[in-house]
Amino acid sequence: MNRRISLPRVEGTASRQAHADLPAGTYEREISKEGFFGPAALFHHKHPPTGWVAFEGPLRPHAFDLTRLAPGTASPWQAAEILHNANVRVRFWQAPESMDHLVRNADGDDLLFIHRGRAQLYCDYGHLSIEAGDYVMIPRGTMWRVEVNEPLAALMIEAVNAGYSLPEKGLLGPHALFDPAMLDTPRMDERFVAQQADDARWQVRVKRRGAVSTVTYPFNPLDAIGWHGDLAVVRINVRHIRPVASHRYHLPPSAHTTFVGQRFVVCTFVPRPFETDPGALKVPFFHNNDDYDEVIFYHAGDFFSRDNIHPGMMTLHPCGFTHGPHPKALQNMLRQTKSATDEYAVMIDTRDALEIADAARGVEWMGYVDSWKG
Ligand SMILES: [Fe+2]
Repeated sequence: MNRRISLPRVEGTASRQAHADLPAGTYEREISKEGFFGPAALFHHKHPPTGWVAFEGPLRPHAFDLTRLAPGTASPWQAAEILHNANVRVRFWQAPESMDHLVRNADGDDLLFIHRGRAQLYCDYGHLSIEAGDYVMIPRGTMWRVEVNEPLAALMIEAVNAGYSLPEKGLLGPHALFDPAMLDTPRMDERFVAQQADDARWQVRVKRRGAVSTVTYPFNPLDAIGWHGDLAVVRINVRHIRPVASHRYHLPPSAHTTFVGQRFVVCTFVPRPFETDPGALKVPFFHNNDDYDEVIFYHAGDFFSRDNIHPGMMTLHPCGFTHGPHPKALQNMLRQTKSATDEYAVMIDTRDALEIADAARGVEWMGYVDSWKG
């Protein structure tokens, strides 16, 4: 037996509809359970909840400029680790050149998000071209390598000891956000067959429990001539994501969930029209992130609710840290000059606290917590 206490009440001067028709001159802050799915309360404050003059201690938010990381190597297992917990490991892989070996992840599925560059992926399933804006999900156990056409920079999001699925779309139906038929899979095409001609010694570097073992073959192990099944590498580009929006209601970020891991989700922000209803909020509402650590990687565009953030940066808002729009964005809380957002970003929300790896600490922007001062 487990029944939530749920008793909608209204106290004092308040709106009865979340994220709309706020009492004049107030700022809305949400406290909620289970991301934005459980019981919630919405407060109408006289001051922005991010109006602190000082903020000290371990709850402060973090911003990392991944563009300042040292150039990487062609092996994804040497990618800089950024954040991790028992369920997810986030790395930033910069591959300046083609891999001269294969890799295989025995720890979990990898979700690559290509931030920059273009490459040819060769794997057990065949050949797939990959480019900036692509998500590429590589199931645990797949052998793969890339031939780089333009140096790659990619987020690698590993679902530790688990895999990825698509979110339950509920009332939206199964074809919302993107139709599963839009997922591309590798082909056993001419290029795949051609790479089989390179049949000399090949190494496969297998990662298991973080340690790499090297298996050497006197032939090219990407030698399959066919396959069948319902498991495969899949690819979708962010330009094929069709976000849900409401002209009368600011949807919570969870409406943009694109992949689901174990105790974490990956959401994708792509350009979408602003709300047009005069009483509807046009910017993210203030909230404490209760129950989740929140990571956002900024891929491209103009990040409408954050100042001083540029493509290639990543922010971490620990669970319990109250946040919301930066002061400049807040001025447009109810009226926007543009008709649509112009941002592409990847959000990773984790149910358990994330640890910050050394590489990330080396590129941290320490002034981030003060950026709400305006
Ligand atoms: Fe948030």
